[in-house]
Amino acid sequence: MSERPAIRITDFTKVYRGFGQRAHTAVEDLSLEVAEGEVFGFLGPNGAGKSTTIKSLLGFLRPTRGRLEMLGQSHSDVTTRRRIGYLPEVASYYHYLTARETLRFYAKIFRLPRAGLAQRIDEVLDRVGLLTQADRRVGTFSKGMTQRVGIAQALINDPDLLILDEPTTGLDPLGQREIRDLIADLRRRGKTVFFSSHELSRVEEVCDRAAILRQGRLVRLGALDELMPPQHGLEAVVAELDEGALRSRSPWPVQVLSRRSAELTVCLEGAEDLRAALNLFGELGAEVRLIERRRPRLEDVFVEAVSGEERRG
Ligand SMILES: Nc1ncnc2c1ncn2[C@@H]1O[C@H](COP(=O)(O)OP(=O)(O)OP(=O)(O)O)[C@@H](O)[C@H]1O
Ligand SMILES: [Mg+2]
Repeated sequence: MSERPAIRITDFTKVYRGFGQRAHTAVEDLSLEVAEGEVFGFLGPNGAGKSTTIKSLLGFLRPTRGRLEMLGQSHSDVTTRRRIGYLPEVASYYHYLTARETLRFYAKIFRLPRAGLAQRIDEVLDRVGLLTQADRRVGTFSKGMTQRVGIAQALINDPDLLILDEPTTGLDPLGQREIRDLIADLRRRGKTVFFSSHELSRVEEVCDRAAILRQGRLVRLGALDELMPPQHGLEAVVAELDEGALRSRSPWPVQVLSRRSAELTVCLEGAEDLRAALNLFGELGAEVRLIERRRPRLEDVFVEAVSGEERRG
């Protein structure tokens, strides 16, 4: 990895200890690096330790063991902190401030110069689709609108490194696309983005590399191409297919990949003889609409990596 990665986490362990409670290891021996200019997806099921790691990176939690650095420094370095944007998992803002005033408040924290600030605030509000709502109080905002304030807040100082804990949570499909485009745009501008997410299809569209945590341990790490190797089998989209009849007649194990209205997507892996498979569909009165090479899906990689896991509370 590069000499000076944007993020370097070394042997990080976090054990939560509460009074009268059993110690709970949330993250164990995590090491990973994120290069400058990279878009990195930090994945894992609920309770896997993503937010714990992110909060420790930013210095809101003390690591039990290990080192966490951003831009070559620990979180406590003030000049480094000004180059970082952070969207927390759960954020609360002053209810009585408007969106515009909220951003002005954060600009003050970062000590941004006053010259050009009004324009900068408008640009950022526009970027997250809130410009027309700029003078409404944040306390009256919907969940998705509040999330957009959070993203605007993370962008206000034009950071070199963005750390986003579930940026698409609560956003409508359009909003989710906007975040994807925003991240792609930041990447074009040479910024580093480290974000956690459960929207795997979005992660797939925008990430260079990803890590998957399971019960606080790193179970997958790599470029998306490595995590999702090309699949060899074929898949068929078939309409008017009686699934039960297919299962009872098929000589190969039937795996249904998705069901959408009257169409089934069936994996043809194991169906050595494509012609025989097509004949069988014909005999069952089904209509084959599409046959294509199986597309690797991050969701499959994720499920395989974390399956067998019991959820942790
Ligand atoms: N303050 C705390 N005290 C005790 N345990 C905690 C605390 N915060 C988190 N945990 C535990 O640490 C583990 C990891 O939690 P964390 O919030 O890091 O998960 P996550 O990967 O961000 O999950 P999600 O996808 O639900 O946001 C969980 O088992 C959680 O119960
Ligand atoms: Mg979390």
